[in-house]
Amino acid sequence: MPRAILTRRFPPALVEQLTAAGIDITRHNGDEPMPRAGRLEFVCGADAIVTTINDRVDDGLLDAAGDSLKLVANFGVGYDNIDLDACRARGVLVSNTPGVLTDATADLAWTLILMAARRAVEGERMVRGGEWRGWAPTQLVGVDVTGATLGVVGAGRIGCAVARRAAGFHMTVLYAHPRNQPELDRIGAQHVDIDQLVAEADIISLHVPMRPETHHLISRERIAQMKRTAILINTARGPVVDEAALVDALRERRIFAAGLDVYENEPRLAPGLVELHNVALLPHLGSATEGTRTKMAEMVAANVIAALSGKPPLNPVTA
Ligand code: DGY
Repeated sequence: MPRAILTRRFPPALVEQLTAAGIDITRHNGDEPMPRAGRLEFVCGADAIVTTINDRVDDGLLDAAGDSLKLVANFGVGYDNIDLDACRARGVLVSNTPGVLTDATADLAWTLILMAARRAVEGERMVRGGEWRGWAPTQLVGVDVTGATLGVVGAGRIGCAVARRAAGFHMTVLYAHPRNQPELDRIGAQHVDIDQLVAEADIISLHVPMRPETHHLISRERIAQMKRTAILINTARGPVVDEAALVDALRERRIFAAGLDVYENEPRLAPGLVELHNVALLPHLGSATEGTRTKMAEMVAANVIAALSGKPPLNPVTA
């Protein structure tokens, strides 16, 4: 019987479909990552390992799994937790879950845009804290989203979905991407370089994958180029932003606000971030809807079943 190792508790569809396909499952059934000690023994003899962003797949893990390993099936679209060269060197395939989480993640980027622009975190805190004394003309005044300029950094599936939603807010859309994106050109978005985008956009939303070249793409220097009224949204990967520089800019009110779903050293936050009022902080919820997580589970199951029956996975990572 082929054996799949699940490093986490996953939506029931994953276990149901793997079991129905006759795959033997060993799982670490919790929401926390597996403790470091015991992690290597746990994967020993696996035919497939189902991983998440919190599992580093490196030489050590691959060696511990051994020669039986055919597939690392990542539960997520991003795969920066996986050493692709190390997998390739051992003939281990890698799969991910593209497409199914596009809308959920774009919706969450918009949640953060509206929270940050309209000071929703401060308002919520005020009401819950019993500090609200009634409506006042100058109370918690935010910035307009309707009619503002949205800058989308990275125009892949999720970036495009975020840009499409801007039509409802009558926004001007700028995008920075290595090449023209016809879908965005058709809706009148302007293809610009990242420096023009950070200088001109009112709302900057990040949608680039984590790669060596995107590390601190939003650097201290680029943050310094943003408008004083700018809002920075990150639902991509934490290390794309120099988080310490962002904390300084928010503290000194050099930009208006930020909305973050991802962090440089998740789940740890940069010193000073939680004390700030002008930032909305979410715990990496981009794809966290019932429907989306079930589709991701089904996609992972299909990839594992294919690979363990000698076929290519449906969503191979080839980069
Ligand atoms: C994704 O799908 O990449 C999410 O960020 C979780 O890894």
